[in-house]
Amino acid sequence: MPAEGGSEVTGGRPGTDGPRTLGIVGAGQLARMMVEAASALGIRTAVLAAGGDDAAAPVAGEVLVGEATDGRSLRSLAALSDVVTFDHEQVDLRLLDDLEREGVQLRPAVETLRVAVDKGEMRERLAAAGLPVPRYEVLGVAGDRGRGPDELAAAIAAFAAQGRWPVVAKAARGGYDGKGVWVLDGEEDARALCEDAVRAGTPLLVETHVDIDLELAVVIARGRDGTSVSWPPVETAQVDGVCREVRYPGRLHPDLADRATDLGREVAAVVGLTGVLAVELFASSGRLLVNEIAARPHNSAHWTIEGAATSQFENHVRAVLGLPLGDTSPVAAHVASVNVFGSTSAGGGDPSAGMSQALAVRGAHVHLYGKQPRPGRKLGHVTVCGDDPADVRARAWAAARALGTPVPFPIEAVVP
Ligand SMILES: Nc1ncnc2c1ncn2[C@@H]1O[C@H](COP(=O)(O)OP(=O)(O)O)[C@@H](O)[C@H]1O
Ligand SMILES: [Mg+2]
Repeated sequence: MPAEGGSEVTGGRPGTDGPRTLGIVGAGQLARMMVEAASALGIRTAVLAAGGDDAAAPVAGEVLVGEATDGRSLRSLAALSDVVTFDHEQVDLRLLDDLEREGVQLRPAVETLRVAVDKGEMRERLAAAGLPVPRYEVLGVAGDRGRGPDELAAAIAAFAAQGRWPVVAKAARGGYDGKGVWVLDGEEDARALCEDAVRAGTPLLVETHVDIDLELAVVIARGRDGTSVSWPPVETAQVDGVCREVRYPGRLHPDLADRATDLGREVAAVVGLTGVLAVELFASSGRLLVNEIAARPHNSAHWTIEGAATSQFENHVRAVLGLPLGDTSPVAAHVASVNVFGSTSAGGGDPSAGMSQALAVRGAHVHLYGKQPRPGRKLGHVTVCGDDPADVRARAWAAARALGTPVPFPIEAVVP
């Protein structure tokens, strides 16, 4: 609640019991699932949506329509809320700094967001803390400091010369689901990318192309008092930079999982987290490297809704409001969570057309986000818990396919 005029909050202070309102900047599927968790606890919600058809708009208590980077909209949201949290990273840090100074309770705080919203800052902060990251160089805003496409491409080539091609270039801000990640095979690729980046004003970094043995993620929840809990790490499967499937425990050796958890907790402490934090990791030749972090609930822990005693969404709500954190233990030996995407048919199909077929799959927990279908757009997910890893995968994929999801790898890799 803003301290403007020194007025007292209306909805009860965080850390005290009583009715409260959680404000959420953004109204995508993460906000929608936060709202569902908050609702079960009797916590009111307000979302700042870009438009009325955003995923969280139909379920939130209050919907304000406005930009996440608009001061008036943010202050209106804060005026309704005891605590303000975030669904995405497309924020204006300077503006949030002002709000924090005005007394708005931002959770996570700007200190954490500063690291989480910028992949360059992320690399710098984690490297400075001695945490393992791929070799990288922050190139800054293309066109900045007089650096045109040629100078930027030369910087990328010099970086590659210290190792080898390919290298990976990334947009420091604004990327998601593989948009903003480019594998560059040589100088020609670098020049083409830099021309586009200069035109679009995209801040870039470049890093080693890691030989990834597997990708994993660990999700931590940290309360306002610094206590933290974590869910067991999971294996994630990305195709073209987009997460398609999450498996608990997947192929993760318990030692690797323990190291990932330790690393996740260190990251949470370094960034001064309150709320939920996801740490995406690469396992490469026995080493763990931090790929990226997200200071919010994350696709790699959607499985916790049915697969763990307390979901990431509930613990995020609890953490940001200063409530005790819940038990993160898995409730089954194996869990598979498969993302639902718009089908390749014109318009992306309607996933709900396959609902009866999907729900006929034993144990399939279907989540549709209510988004307008488009081919390749993430529209939902399906989770299945059980005793047998191949069986939970097969059932989760069967339900996701019934909802129109194209299978991104050979089907025999999924259905034994
Ligand atoms: N340095 C790298 N080396 C090899 N693959 C990478 C590298 N960085 C990213 N990738 C691949 O691209 C995916 C998306 O990259 P990421 O930085 O996580 O972007 P996004 O924000 O879109 O999730 C990763 O999950 C991984 O599969
Ligand atoms: Mg990622």
